[in-house]
Amino acid sequence: MKYDSITEAIGNTPLVRIDPAVHGLAHVDLYAKLEMLNPFGSVKDRAAWHMTRDRLAQARERGAQLVELSSGNTAKALATLAGLHGLTFKSVTNRMRVPEIKELLLLLGAEIEELPGRSECLDPSDTEDPLTLFHRHLTEEGGAYLHTDQYFNPLNTEAHLTGTGPEILKDLGGRAPDYFVACVGTAGSSTGVARVLRAADPEVRVVGLVADKSDFIPGIRTLDEVREVGLFDPAAYDAVESVTSQEAIDGMLTLLRRCGLLAGPTSGAAYLGAVRHLRAVEAGHTGRVTAVFIVCDRVESYLSYVRQRRPELLGGRPAAHSREALSEEEIRTAPSVDVAGAREWIARERPLVVDLRGPHAFAALHIAGSVNIVDELFGELLRGGLPFGRSRPVLLACPVGEKSARYAALLRRMGHERVRSLAGGVIAWRDAGAPLVRD
Ligand SMILES: Cc1ncc(COP(=O)(O)O)c(C=O)c1O
Repeated sequence: MKYDSITEAIGNTPLVRIDPAVHGLAHVDLYAKLEMLNPFGSVKDRAAWHMTRDRLAQARERGAQLVELSSGNTAKALATLAGLHGLTFKSVTNRMRVPEIKELLLLLGAEIEELPGRSECLDPSDTEDPLTLFHRHLTEEGGAYLHTDQYFNPLNTEAHLTGTGPEILKDLGGRAPDYFVACVGTAGSSTGVARVLRAADPEVRVVGLVADKSDFIPGIRTLDEVREVGLFDPAAYDAVESVTSQEAIDGMLTLLRRCGLLAGPTSGAAYLGAVRHLRAVEAGHTGRVTAVFIVCDRVESYLSYVRQRRPELLGGRPAAHSREALSEEEIRTAPSVDVAGAREWIARERPLVVDLRGPHAFAALHIAGSVNIVDELFGELLRGGLPFGRSRPVLLACPVGEKSARYAALLRRMGHERVRSLAGGVIAWRDAGAPLVRD
């Protein structure tokens, strides 16, 4: 294969059958679409190239900077494309959560601007979110930036309408699979492929996978966030199901250790979600079932992600004091207090108020006297044991009360009986008209 440019190597990825002895579904032919073999390493190479290919030359002429709200694979692909075409690239995000990707972006020459966003991904309906404001500024600006706008750009979906979808059909001999399973980030890949497959066979069942509530799987949204994405069309999916980060790691281990696929956690989520869904439906089928899932990127960037959640896999001690080790029951029954109760408790006993949000959100508005220990740092702290005495009352606050509930459950498990999670989080506090201060 001889190419004039590396961009010609984007797409035409292999479709590889997973050995049924591994997934254990005797009547299912399960295929992995290996998007991790795209040249910059992920499914996002297609979207990044499709959104820029006709605009790069003109952007270079006018000295514009390529810019995108991404902290992951889209940024990686765009940074590479920018370098290849003599442009600079800026990644705008509210928190780089995968350190290896941040470092790789810096190595690629990307500029990184971290904004004080409220959610991990853009929420266009939140008019006060700095990330949303910045997004609007970029869209209005025109001149200085080439903004690819992946959350709203139809070319993102089109990359898969013209590439990924038709390739799957072709490799299956012109027939759509019975099931298609993909993780949902911007929704571009799953929607694009689903449209192509449905046009070939309206009976194809499409399963979208998202991260479990308050959980983090790189590159995809949680159940709460997914409806905020411009490209997300609920009609594209027959089911939207959630996967936990622990399940994603389990699925990834199977891909790594049994399938010869050096895939990352989001691919693990897709594999596990596919097998779980197919196991449930297999009984109702007569004859064979064909299914395809997307292997979106490679494992190497996620070693710290794994170390944080399963240290024992990398030679560390098991994380007994980790919020990932909690049961649903422990989280559901975590000690909490509503806004009125919290205000009264603060006035009476002066608990230590720990705000788990990012530093920008904290600086913008917080409960007077609270201290800011960002979610992940607090998790790290607890791995070493209780960071304060058992008799010290502690109120934990996060945006909506989900993360704080997990930590309250964890602290209780560690023997701290005087901890409470602020129900509804800082948003409920604000909505109740309770006072907030600014630094
Ligand atoms: C690792 C990974 N998997 C899956 C996806 C989902 O792809 P899409 O944005 O097309 O929904 C992304 C998106 O960034 C990703 O980074």
